[in-house]
Amino acid sequence: MTHKIRVWDLPTRIFHWALVLCIVGLVSTGQIGGDLMPWHFRLGYSVLSLLLFRIVWGFIGGRWSRFAAFVHRPAMVLAYLRGRGQAEHSVGHNPLGAGSVLAMLLFLLAQVGSGLFSDDEIAASGPLAKLVSNASVGLATNYHAHIGKIVLIVLVLLHVGAIVFYRVKKQQNLVPAMLHGDKELEQPMESARDDLAARALALLVFALCAAAVAWGVQWAG
Ligand code: HEM
Ligand code: HEM
Repeated sequence: MTHKIRVWDLPTRIFHWALVLCIVGLVSTGQIGGDLMPWHFRLGYSVLSLLLFRIVWGFIGGRWSRFAAFVHRPAMVLAYLRGRGQAEHSVGHNPLGAGSVLAMLLFLLAQVGSGLFSDDEIAASGPLAKLVSNASVGLATNYHAHIGKIVLIVLVLLHVGAIVFYRVKKQQNLVPAMLHGDKELEQPMESARDDLAARALALLVFALCAAAVAWGVQWAG
């Protein structure tokens, strides 16, 4: 008998797929540049709002979306790699996948952060570029347009590669749970809270994050 467990609450799923759409848009608009740069900025502010939301949701969100559920000590990751994982590891992000998720979140923050200080020396200038020296703008732009961009593309390729690996080699399809939220597990496990109140709270948190970003951009004006 299997047990149906809600793993990814609706806010986490919307966060994920909205993030995917924004990143595809950001890489495309960044590469094309020109008239699309205002859209690059708008999408960048959307990603910043999403990331701020995800950080807060990592503390108050559903059981398996919380950082406490997937930030593991190195010893735990090693035990998992040696085949001595715990039953809990088959529910949310496993200890190895968690590393890739945290790296993506960290480098996305660095990408947005450096973008705010970047300048393409044509028409597009991040809102905070005028607050720092030309040398700092140069460093931020170099990181944003070269190093950070490549690191992110590699991390996303590894992420999608790992999902394909789990599908092909381990016969585990991780994608449906990121679509409808549920996994069928051998053992009973705690479901993530995903009721109307939790979703309304997520909406409120996201609205506050987006408002903070909009206010910050206006302030930098
Ligand atoms: C720009 C591309 C992508 C980015 C930046 C990205 C980012 C992320 C992040 C940050 C998470 C963690 C979710 C959370 O806990 O909030 C995640 C999980 C996940 N992503 Fe993606 N993702 C991308 C593309 C994709 C694609 C194309 C697929 C489907 C093939 C996918 C499937 C998944 C799945 C199944 C998980 C859950 C993994 C698990 O069970 O541990 N992602 N992704
Ligand atoms: C995760 C979010 C972001 C991603 C993935 C991203 C990605 C990119 C990419 C791929 C480029 C083209 C680099 C090249 O020339 O090859 C670019 C350029 C640029 N981005 Fe972003 N970006 C993000 C966020 C932002 C934000 C929030 C801002 C500012 C508000 C910003 C401002 C710029 C500027 C000014 C350039 C032109 C730099 C230049 O070509 O010299 N970006 N970005």
